[in-house]
Amino acid sequence: MTIQNELDIDIRNLLGQAWSVKAEDLSAMAGLMEKAGRSLTKLRESGKGPDGSDVLFPRLPYILDEDVLITEEEKESLLHADELAKSADILISIGIGGSYLGNQMLFDVFCGPYWNMMDREERNGFPKVFFAGQNMDPHGLLQLVEEVERESRHAGRKCRVLLLVISKSGTTIEPSSALKALRTLLIPFADISLLAITDREKGSLRRYANENHLPCFTVPDGIGGRFSELSQVGLVFARLIGVDIKDLLSGARMVEEACRSEKAEENPALFLASLKYAASRKYGIAAEIIMPYGDTLRSFGWWYAQLLGESLGKKYDMAGHVIHYGRIPVAAVGTTDMHSLTQEHQQGAKNKLVQFISVKESRSRLSVPCEESGETGDVPMDFMLESARKANEQALAAEGRMSCAIKIRKITPFHLGALMYFFFLTIAYEGALADINAFDQPGVEDYKKILHQDIRDYIVRNK
Ligand code: PA5
Repeated sequence: MTIQNELDIDIRNLLGQAWSVKAEDLSAMAGLMEKAGRSLTKLRESGKGPDGSDVLFPRLPYILDEDVLITEEEKESLLHADELAKSADILISIGIGGSYLGNQMLFDVFCGPYWNMMDREERNGFPKVFFAGQNMDPHGLLQLVEEVERESRHAGRKCRVLLLVISKSGTTIEPSSALKALRTLLIPFADISLLAITDREKGSLRRYANENHLPCFTVPDGIGGRFSELSQVGLVFARLIGVDIKDLLSGARMVEEACRSEKAEENPALFLASLKYAASRKYGIAAEIIMPYGDTLRSFGWWYAQLLGESLGKKYDMAGHVIHYGRIPVAAVGTTDMHSLTQEHQQGAKNKLVQFISVKESRSRLSVPCEESGETGDVPMDFMLESARKANEQALAAEGRMSCAIKIRKITPFHLGALMYFFFLTIAYEGALADINAFDQPGVEDYKKILHQDIRDYIVRNK
């Protein structure tokens, strides 16, 4: 299957093999697949999820063309957000979960590991970028403070630090702790400015932003954390690091328009979701390894792991029956984890499928001399990268292990937008097939209550 030759979906090792899903499984599921197709059509039309609450991610590809998810005023500020970034030396993006993972991925893909070592000109005037609030570890936070201190020492002046704080709920403890700590600890070395992205009304971050007249973007109603990368959450960050947001959104639009049919054979997202659903339900697939090839896409795996885990890992179906649906998400990276996890994927418990992600046209050409069984010659590394991926796929198939291979043509904002949105859809369709609510996360809410109680008890005990 292909979407305009920009995003290819190879399902040969998920369908039609002796050890994979069979055509007759799909025939037996035909009614269910049609129902899932209809359910997404209804969701697109009504903007409501299975429990009646707002689910508006299908509007994201059109966010800049309509006024459903963003106001004109916000659009204007968004388009000028790069100016804010260019007047800062350092950008610290504070957030966790859906308010972090996608932005880390954009940073890794488009800026890369050496960004902060480049000079300003090489960064096209954009600031150095750090992340905080994605953990509660005080050591990491203090190291970041030391780094800002070092920067200001080298510059012989205070650094201009832009704190971008992202929290939909505005109450999450990790980012709010990081914000409080950084705002105090950075004062001796930094002139701090703040930019917030949070819920329209609720939460202490919104209150704080209003009271302090901070510039503030809104996480739109109906956009859950893990579906928010193409909303203000990711678009503002993208502007702050110089990524083209119109391209990101047009990739998503291409996929949305190619995946609207209620017929699975005309809708690659529904088709792939149906295969994974059948694999889970009928063939004991309990884990999904997401395995991008190449370092650049490493954090795509972490982003997808959240989307899969939080969306499909559900105890109840929509009728309230206990079903414990879901697959264990495992973020791996090729070729690195072929020397670590692949042994288990190949010969361990036969309960997993591997989803490869790769890029057809490499961004860089580099050949190295190779010698294989007496033959010597220069071989491009991108050829070897793809060759390693295919070898993994073939070896898995030889052991009767299911996999699928998703390929984007190039690494560009357009293709990343397409890839993210494709997975939004596959997850939404699979939620409909499994008859679960893919858009809530009651488990996360449960542990948050326990954690907050424990912190409260600590405060009381230590008064
Ligand atoms: O997907 C989700 O909703 C969660 O993982 C959230 O993104 C995460 O808990 C962070 O929440 P918030 O943005 O409200 O701080």
